[in-house]
Amino acid sequence: MTESWATFGADLHLELAAGRGLRAGLTEALREAARSGRLAPGLRLPSSRSLAADLGIARNTVAEAYAELVAEGWLTARQGSGTRVAERARARRPAPAAPVRRPVRPKTSYSLMPGSPDLGGFPRAGWLSAARRALSEAPNEAFGYADPRGRVELREALAGYLARARGVYADPERIVLCAGFAHGLMLLAKLLRARRVREVAVEGYGLDVHRDLLTGAGLRTRVLEVDAAGACTRALPGSGVGAVLLTPAHQFPTGAALTPERRAAAVDWARSTGGLILEDDYDGEFRYDRQPVGALQGLDPDRVVYLGTASKSLAPGLRMGWMVVPRSLMDEVLAVKGPTDWSSSAIEQLTLAEFIRSGAYDRHVREMRLRYRRRRDELVAAVGERAAVSGIAAGLHAVLDLAAGGERAALRAAAWQDLGLQPLSFFRHPDSVAPPREALVVGFGTPPQSAWSATLAALVAALL
Ligand SMILES: Cc1ncc(COP(=O)(O)O)c(C=O)c1O
Repeated sequence: MTESWATFGADLHLELAAGRGLRAGLTEALREAARSGRLAPGLRLPSSRSLAADLGIARNTVAEAYAELVAEGWLTARQGSGTRVAERARARRPAPAAPVRRPVRPKTSYSLMPGSPDLGGFPRAGWLSAARRALSEAPNEAFGYADPRGRVELREALAGYLARARGVYADPERIVLCAGFAHGLMLLAKLLRARRVREVAVEGYGLDVHRDLLTGAGLRTRVLEVDAAGACTRALPGSGVGAVLLTPAHQFPTGAALTPERRAAAVDWARSTGGLILEDDYDGEFRYDRQPVGALQGLDPDRVVYLGTASKSLAPGLRMGWMVVPRSLMDEVLAVKGPTDWSSSAIEQLTLAEFIRSGAYDRHVREMRLRYRRRRDELVAAVGERAAVSGIAAGLHAVLDLAAGGERAALRAAAWQDLGLQPLSFFRHPDSVAPPREALVVGFGTPPQSAWSATLAALVAALL
């Protein structure tokens, strides 16, 4: 309890009932606040002098209201401990509302569910020092209402990083910060609807939540089947779609890299029809064996919206993402974002800017890349002949193809091992007509480092 709290009591929000006279109005407002539990039992109220000054009324009026409520048992008054809300007020509080039920994944001891980095690898110390520097150097205006594109410091840092590390044609003026990929996709879905687009092509395997964001905005999705060369973008011409959502660097979840021919086919389609390519570059930083696969956006920055996120490279809880938007679309993106959607705190944005500028982001990505690469190699060695492992040149997950009937058997065995596993079929678009694959999507990035060996052993046991 701070000194000022003890001296003056709690700050109260009281709305005096109108037309009842000051004393009756104040008494009723306090009684109601104690009855509803808004003022917690035991809470020390301000002194009559202090509350009278706050409300601009006579001290006597407050003292009389307090005395009446003490007499009714709502308040207690003791020498030395001031006036407090009585403990018995607790009994009259309404019963707590029933907890809101949300679908949750059953909790397992081990998890290889894809979609998460190793949260234990979050660079706490580096983030803290970046936050300290960012806070001490932030201009006063950083604490005010923000540019809807986000802080210029982060847009500049990202422009340099994305050009250098991902081959993105990035200009800070065309970067819009958002609360992760999902937020960016939601904004683009609204934009497409505003342009009267009806249908968007999506990959035959992908995240249902992303498809749901599109359909939730009133768009239909049309399947582009996926094979070892990525999404079949040659099917785009004549499809009538107004946009296509792709994961070119590392197809999610199959892991294929979109081949140069298919990249060119997507760009040719976009140029000839005025269509838009939405590029989801969710884990482009984590490449292992092959030459870096640059962003598709570099091929045509006027037809591709590039979307990146800190969810894999740092942590999904940060809710930080970015879009590099074609110049001709900037006004429309800002119009759907609106004047009140600032999406992430300026302090977090300045911290990430400082984290990138100081070289800490590159160091962190390099360190995590080594960690994930080691895990991937151990996974391949441990699985051996039990499954065909693919999609492992990059990213934080691998696909394990199994013999017929293997998917169900592995999931049943994983349940016995208390291991969370996701089948590839979970990601399949309901309209896909490609022959289904019996496979698992193994998120080797997910376990904390301390649990990695035990988790891998549980997987191997589930594949026996
Ligand atoms: C394919 C794909 N795209 C994007 C993301 C990142 O989403 P967000 O930035 O909304 O956390 C993920 C995270 O799991 C993903 O799997």
